[in-house]
Amino acid sequence: MASLPEDRPENRFAHDEARRDSDHVSFLKHRRWRWAKIATVLSIVAIASYLLVDVTPRHNGGSWYGYTLGTVGAALIVWLSLLGIRKRNMSEGRWSLKAWTSAHVYLGLALVVVATLHTGFQLGWNVHTLAWALMLLVVISGIYGIAVYATLPKEISSNRRQMTKHEMLEALAAIDRQLESAAQPLARDEADLVIAALEQDPFDFGLWTRLTGNYRRCWTGDALAEIEEDDSDPAVQKVLSLLRKRRAQLEQIRRQMRLRAMLDIWLYVHVPVTIALLAALTAHIISVFYYW
Ligand code: HEM
Ligand code: HEM
Repeated sequence: MASLPEDRPENRFAHDEARRDSDHVSFLKHRRWRWAKIATVLSIVAIASYLLVDVTPRHNGGSWYGYTLGTVGAALIVWLSLLGIRKRNMSEGRWSLKAWTSAHVYLGLALVVVATLHTGFQLGWNVHTLAWALMLLVVISGIYGIAVYATLPKEISSNRRQMTKHEMLEALAAIDRQLESAAQPLARDEADLVIAALEQDPFDFGLWTRLTGNYRRCWTGDALAEIEEDDSDPAVQKVLSLLRKRRAQLEQIRRQMRLRAMLDIWLYVHVPVTIALLAALTAHIISVFYYW
C-alpha cells in the first residue's frame, strides 16, 4: 500500500524535525511490541538457564555456558553498534529504520541481562569490568534518550507558541530595529550599553550555557541592570521597556535552544562510549584468549 511520504518511518527518522514532532516514539510499540516480547523471552531464557545450568565452582565467563552468553552478548553489541551505519543507509520494508530502532532499544536492554550473567557477577577493577561498565553507560544514555524523545517534543512545541525558529528571530530583529532608533537620544555611555547588547550574537554561547540556561555574559541583562531605573526621561523609559521585551524574546529562544540541546546531548555520550565499548570488548576478548 502506498503511503504518504511523512508516514514512512524512514522519512520520519531521516528528518530530525519531522521525527521529533510527529509520533516521535512510535517505534517503541512497533508491530504490537514485537521486540519488547522477543527481548523479554531472551532475558527469561538467559536467567532460567543461568539458574538451571550447573557450573563448578561457580558461574563465570570462562565456562562453556559463560562463553555462550559472552558470544551472544558480543554479537548483540556489534549489531547494536551498526544502527549508526544503518541510520544513514535506509530502506523500506520489514527492516525499516523504525523496526531497527525498536529492536535496538529492546535488545539493548536484554543485553544487560545477558552480559551481566556472562560475568557470573565476578566484577573487579579490570578491562573486563571496564567493558561491562561502558556497556551500562551506553544503555543508560539510551534510556535517557528515549525519555527525552517521549517528553521534550511537547515542551518544545508549547514553548514555541506557534512561532517557528525563523519567526522568533524575526521578532527579535524587529525589537532590535526599534531599540536602535530609541537609543539615539540616550547619553553616550547608556547608548553604548544598548549597542553592545544589540551586537551580541545570541547563538555565540557554549553547549554548557545552552544546557543550563545560565547566561551570565548576557549584555541585554547587563544593559537593563546598568541603565538607571528611576530615570524619568521618557526616552530612557522607552529603551528600558524595549530591552525588557528583548530579554523576554531571548529567553524564549534560549528555552528552545536548551530543550534542543537536551534532546541531542545523550548522543554525545551514546555514540563515543559505544566506540570505547567496542575497544574495551576487543581488549577483553583478546586478553581472555591470550591468558587461556
Ligand atoms: C565473544 C565474546 C566473549 C568472550 C569469548 C568472553 C570471554 C570471557 C571469559 C573467558 C571470561 C572469564 C575470564 C576469567 O575468568 O578470568 C570472561 C569474563 C568476563 N567477561 Fe567476557 N567474554 C565475551 C563477551 C563479554 C561481554 C559482551 C562483556 C560485557 C560487556 C564481558 C564482560 C566480562 C566480565 C566483566 C567478566 C568477568 C571478569 C572477571 O572474572 O574478572 N564479556 N569473559
Ligand atoms: C550496548 C548497547 C548499545 C549500543 C552499542 C548502542 C549503539 C548505538 C549507536 C551506534 C547508535 C547510532 C547513533 C547515531 O549514529 O546517531 C544508536 C542509536 C540509538 N540508540 Fe543505542 N545502543 C545501545 C543500547 C541502547 C539502548 C538500551 C537504548 C534505549 C533504551 C538505545 C537507544 C537508542 C536510540 C533511540 C537511538 C536512535 C537515535 C536517533 O536515531 O536519533 N540504545 N545506538
